[in-house]
Amino acid sequence: MTIEAVIAEVLRQIRPTEEERTFVKRLMGELKELAVETVEELGLDVKPHFVGSLAKDTYLAGDHDVDLFLAFPLETPLQELREKGLELGKVIARKLDSYEIAYAEHPYVRASYKGVSVDIVPCYDVNSWRDVRTAVDRSILHTRWVNENIKGKNDEVRLLKRFLKGINAYGSEIYVRGFSGYLAEILVIKYGSFLDVLKKADFMLRQKIIDPKNWLRREPEIAMRTVKREVELDRPLIVLDPVDPRRNVAANLSWERYGVFYFNAIKFLKEPSTKFFFPEKSRAGNYLDELRRKGTHLVTLIFGKQDLVDDLLLPQLERSARGFEKALEREGFRVFGWDYGYSGDKAFIMLEVDRAERPSVRIHPGPEFFTERGRDFYRKNERVWLRGKRLYAEKSVKENILDVISELLEKNQVSLGKNLREAVKDADFLVDYVPGDLEGEAYLFLSRKKEGL
Ligand code: CTP
Ligand code: MN
Repeated sequence: MTIEAVIAEVLRQIRPTEEERTFVKRLMGELKELAVETVEELGLDVKPHFVGSLAKDTYLAGDHDVDLFLAFPLETPLQELREKGLELGKVIARKLDSYEIAYAEHPYVRASYKGVSVDIVPCYDVNSWRDVRTAVDRSILHTRWVNENIKGKNDEVRLLKRFLKGINAYGSEIYVRGFSGYLAEILVIKYGSFLDVLKKADFMLRQKIIDPKNWLRREPEIAMRTVKREVELDRPLIVLDPVDPRRNVAANLSWERYGVFYFNAIKFLKEPSTKFFFPEKSRAGNYLDELRRKGTHLVTLIFGKQDLVDDLLLPQLERSARGFEKALEREGFRVFGWDYGYSGDKAFIMLEVDRAERPSVRIHPGPEFFTERGRDFYRKNERVWLRGKRLYAEKSVKENILDVISELLEKNQVSLGKNLREAVKDADFLVDYVPGDLEGEAYLFLSRKKEGL
């Protein structure tokens, strides 16, 4: 397939149809009317705004969650904005199909209407970055900037977003650390098209700083401060937010996700295929073969995932996996990598380790023999010897990695995500074996094919 044919085929699948557009427009019209009406009922001075990909016409077909922002006057005290914003959100949501309260910097309402999820978020009615007070205040400015600058390249953004999703590099959530929708929009606006952005994968990295609004000239002091800060943090890209010189739009982008983008951009330009956008579920190989090939071992913890949402669960699983890595390394095991996730109501953590058993003794260095502590050490240990003036002792330890883990957990020596502590203590521990529904995960993890590199 030629690159043009690939792009045409992908567009056919990701562009909303006229029918979907009409549905979305009608839905937004209804929601706007409802919001205005409710604001009046409650006698508030609040302006409803749509933000996000729907308001920018950069949503992918079938993926049309609504972001309805309620802009309060700048004079409103923060506490009042929180309370009244939530209350107003609830009154609007009661007129829809159902709702729940979700939490970010402040609580907001997540409603459902005609099968579409509608986030109703209070914010300040800001006109410039100088007014920004909460993390969500910039969204209205983002929407305005994108709409003023996109110049009909909406489908190019769709292509880039679908490509990033396909290669597993989309989403700025902390458990992804990939490209946000807004970053994809800025790149297309700056470089002109989906293909131009791919062709610039290496150039961007070298350039490092992307400054579409020329902040470095307009507000040199503030913009330089941002650049310095972000350089020190070793970010792959520094994209000065067109609506706020203090912010790097790519602050959450990790080197790993950029690397995935980098190699896939090269591969796609050389051998274009729709597979980049719509990857086939990779046919899982046998994870046991991978273990044999590598001579390593796989420890898997499986436990109930409770009712935690992804935003809470996934970062905590990552923290816990890192906690196990650290604790096991301290105990003399080498941890080659870890993975985590869930399947149904079971969460899992996988650790690839160099061995499942270790020697049953450890050499324990002690103090100098002629001290109080030295005499103590001598008294307390059975097998003791001297090397120079220092004492050493042989200490017997648990050999099996499962026993080691149990002991670590008992002594609270593994740092775990705070909502997972109890669940992890009751976890099932498996070595070199996983149940059927995790075989694919285990294979992808051990073969490291997940990254799409
Ligand atoms: N936003 C941001 N930075 C992020 C995430 C979100 O600035 N890391 C802001 C942007 O103003 C964005 C809005 O929040 O327009 C909505 O975010 P999100 O729903 O994540 O992005 P969309 O552009 O709506 O893309 P998608 O199609 O994936 O929903
Ligand atoms: Mn969105």
